Amino acid sequence: MEKIVINGGKPLNGEVSISGAKNAVVAIIPATILAQDVCRIENIPNISDVSMMIRILQQLGAGIKMINKNTLEIDTSTINSYMVSHSLTKHLRASYYLLGALLGRYGCARVAMPGGCDFGVRPIDLHIKGFELLGASVSIEENAIIDARSDMLTGSPIYLDQVSVGATINVMLAAVKAKGLTVIENAAKEPHIVDLANFLNSMGADIRGAGTDVIKIRGVDILHGCTYSIIPDQIEAGTYMVAAAATGGRVLVKNVIPKHLESITAKLIESGVHVEEYDDSVLIESTGRPKHCNIKTMPHPGFPTDMQPQISVLLSIADGTSIVSEGVWDNRFRYVEQLIRMGASISVDGKLAVIQGVERLKGAPIKADDLRAGAAMLIAGLCATGTTEIENIIHIDRGYEDVVEKFRLLGADIKRVTVEPISQIANIV
Ligand code: EPZ
Repeated sequence: MEKIVINGGKPLNGEVSISGAKNAVVAIIPATILAQDVCRIENIPNISDVSMMIRILQQLGAGIKMINKNTLEIDTSTINSYMVSHSLTKHLRASYYLLGALLGRYGCARVAMPGGCDFGVRPIDLHIKGFELLGASVSIEENAIIDARSDMLTGSPIYLDQVSVGATINVMLAAVKAKGLTVIENAAKEPHIVDLANFLNSMGADIRGAGTDVIKIRGVDILHGCTYSIIPDQIEAGTYMVAAAATGGRVLVKNVIPKHLESITAKLIESGVHVEEYDDSVLIESTGRPKHCNIKTMPHPGFPTDMQPQISVLLSIADGTSIVSEGVWDNRFRYVEQLIRMGASISVDGKLAVIQGVERLKGAPIKADDLRAGAAMLIAGLCATGTTEIENIIHIDRGYEDVVEKFRLLGADIKRVTVEPISQIANIV
């Protein structure tokens, strides 16, 4: 077990390079199953969600060759199973993409219910509805195995009642080799949807409209291997942008697509932060104590829910009162309890948080409740006075490559320390 210890209050300064996008790669790795060939994927972030996804593909029979830290060759011609057990799916939400990919390749998939961050109820009814409209029969068995099968998947119009990243991706995976035309309406528009469509098209798929709310997929018989580089991670970039602002620093965030960051940039500017955009980087420069502002999270291109905990830390030390409204998940304010331990003044009512800015946060022992909550705890520790110890950092490692090293290179006093398990201490005593 490890924890992260931060001696806070130091402005971040320098340059940081952003890794490949977690939420793109966790869809693209399963998508390689559809090719029955070798795919070379570059700019893969070295994070535990990727390790877990690779382990799942290996268990299915794929050959995985690591070319370097961020490049993999995945040979899916050797896959010989369409079943994924709970011991593998319980660690990450994106394991449900195995359903669409295996269904698309074999016409059948048996995948255990996915795990992932806990934000209250996380239904998969829209995924199932999409598969059924493509002609699959889907059942959820008593042991929480989702079984989907079809003699022949056939393209269909599919209207998603709610904008869903996961359902849009799963339908794309299942439809790409289906017979005829599938039209997804009210599709999600996140950058990782576009990245997946570009990847599938590089394998020979015929997908148009990704990035708009209507995606048209004309089924093809065969997909082939390709070489593909993952886009930069919008949320990792946003996390460093907010950390720079919250610590009163000046940071050049490199290897980004500034267009993907517009909603985050707009809110930083509104809170008084100086932001300069270049072709593939953004400069963040604090101009003093941040100003209050209101946030409402929404599907892309709105302000991302995955940046809500991080920006709330900035607003917790802003001048004035801010209102943060969570528009995607039912229960994404659990981390507020930790910020209050650090001296923040925040009250939560359902999906709404009222944040009264305080002059500064004070270091405390805290924990990461989930991935982005963990990112928020890092920012809180970096801008607080005194020492902050963050436990449960396993969540942070799911989505942030070399996070301690990256912050240390920006001048933070931050380290990982090993925590002795209670059982070992008990043995010594
Ligand atoms: C993806 O989750 C991301 N995960 C999440 O990021 C992110 O918070 C979320 O999209 C929203 O942007 C991955 O990409 C692996 P949704 P996903 O389906 O696909 C409801 C992170 O921190 N809904 O877009 O599971 C649902 O309850 C993670 O990186 C249904 O009602 O989210 C929610 O209110 C955490 N029925 C809304 O739609 C369904 O069948 C959006 O969920 C599916 C979803």
